[in-house]
Amino acid sequence: MLKDGFNRKHDYLRLSLTNNCNLRCTYCMPEESYTHWPAASMMQADEIISLVKTFVAMGVNKVRLTGGEPLVRKDAPQILLALSELPIALAITTNGTRLAPMLPVLQQTNVRTINVSLDTLQADKYLLLTRRDLFNTVYHNIYQLLEQGIRVKINMVVMKGVNENELPAFVEWTRHLPINVRFIEFMPFDGNRWSSNRVFTHEQMLANIAEHTPFDGLPSAPHDTARHFQASGHTGTFSIISSMSAPFCSTCNRLRLTADGKLKNCLFSTSETDLLTALRAGQNVQELILQNLAQKAKERGGQFGEDFADTVAASLVNRSMIAIGG
Ligand code: GTP
Ligand code: 5AD
Ligand code: SF4
Repeated sequence: MLKDGFNRKHDYLRLSLTNNCNLRCTYCMPEESYTHWPAASMMQADEIISLVKTFVAMGVNKVRLTGGEPLVRKDAPQILLALSELPIALAITTNGTRLAPMLPVLQQTNVRTINVSLDTLQADKYLLLTRRDLFNTVYHNIYQLLEQGIRVKINMVVMKGVNENELPAFVEWTRHLPINVRFIEFMPFDGNRWSSNRVFTHEQMLANIAEHTPFDGLPSAPHDTARHFQASGHTGTFSIISSMSAPFCSTCNRLRLTADGKLKNCLFSTSETDLLTALRAGQNVQELILQNLAQKAKERGGQFGEDFADTVAASLVNRSMIAIGG
């Protein structure tokens, strides 16, 4: 059982398949480029499967594949199929650009919900935000997923002065479409030009939406990072992930494995444990995972009830988001 010093049970692994991405979202990575990691430092498919099996043996029952963009990895189909054999809820967070060719494979996997990042409903703004002209591809792919019976959550990172004026349009999108749109408070990561005055808070979001549409609150599940709502008469729902104004660390059940095989206790933790090197050297990976988790309650980013300024300071020596996996 993966418990830390605060008795938090960790049964959700976020697994980054690659730090590569075909988009260049400004809030996720430094403007210049992403760091290209040598192939030998990346987890190979068999190593990923082996490490996930170790986590499952220790109590993990949910695995989310992240990136960079997980679907740019050529062996993503094989990895998905192999992970589908395990007793886990398998999920993906993707930018949605590469979904169409994956649909036949997805049908053979256990993936039932896909989280698609889409921060604007305007093609020209999408180009500015991601530096790639792929809005129509993503938009079309979302409808394709729904047609295949796959549930879709939309992740929209809200940035003041960029897209906060689009909240009502996203809520309107849920009128006839059975999607869950999640508005996410902008978080600081290395190189993403975060500043506190670019954060549009949970409260501001709700006030802004209320000016346009009446809505009701919905219940949350345990470990939910989001609070849920539904506009009156709409088919879909919307949610708010308030990582900045109301962090949800006290119920955190997550562990993170980066694409180069480093275990991170928290999105904001600065210490990492190199599981890949240990696996290659035939060392006891389970013991390392337990040692790593024992540190979680002591880490700055892993604590709860802390002053969030500490977390922000920690993020300055963190990886960029693209190299963590969200
Ligand atoms: P569900 O399983 O559908 O609830 O997805 P999820 O919210 O766990 O994953 P997703 O990859 O869609 O992430 C949505 C947003 O939540 C992103 O902005 C993530 O960076 C953020 N997020 C995910 N996990 C954590 C976490 O442990 N701490 C914080 N602060 N934010 C997180
Ligand atoms: N703040 C909040 N969410 C972010 N994401 C990427 N960068 C940030 C940030 N700075 C989101 C992406 C993706 C998820 C994994 O993390 O939109 O959906
Ligand atoms: Fe790529 Fe996602 Fe980062 Fe955008 S947010 S650059 S899609 S990894």
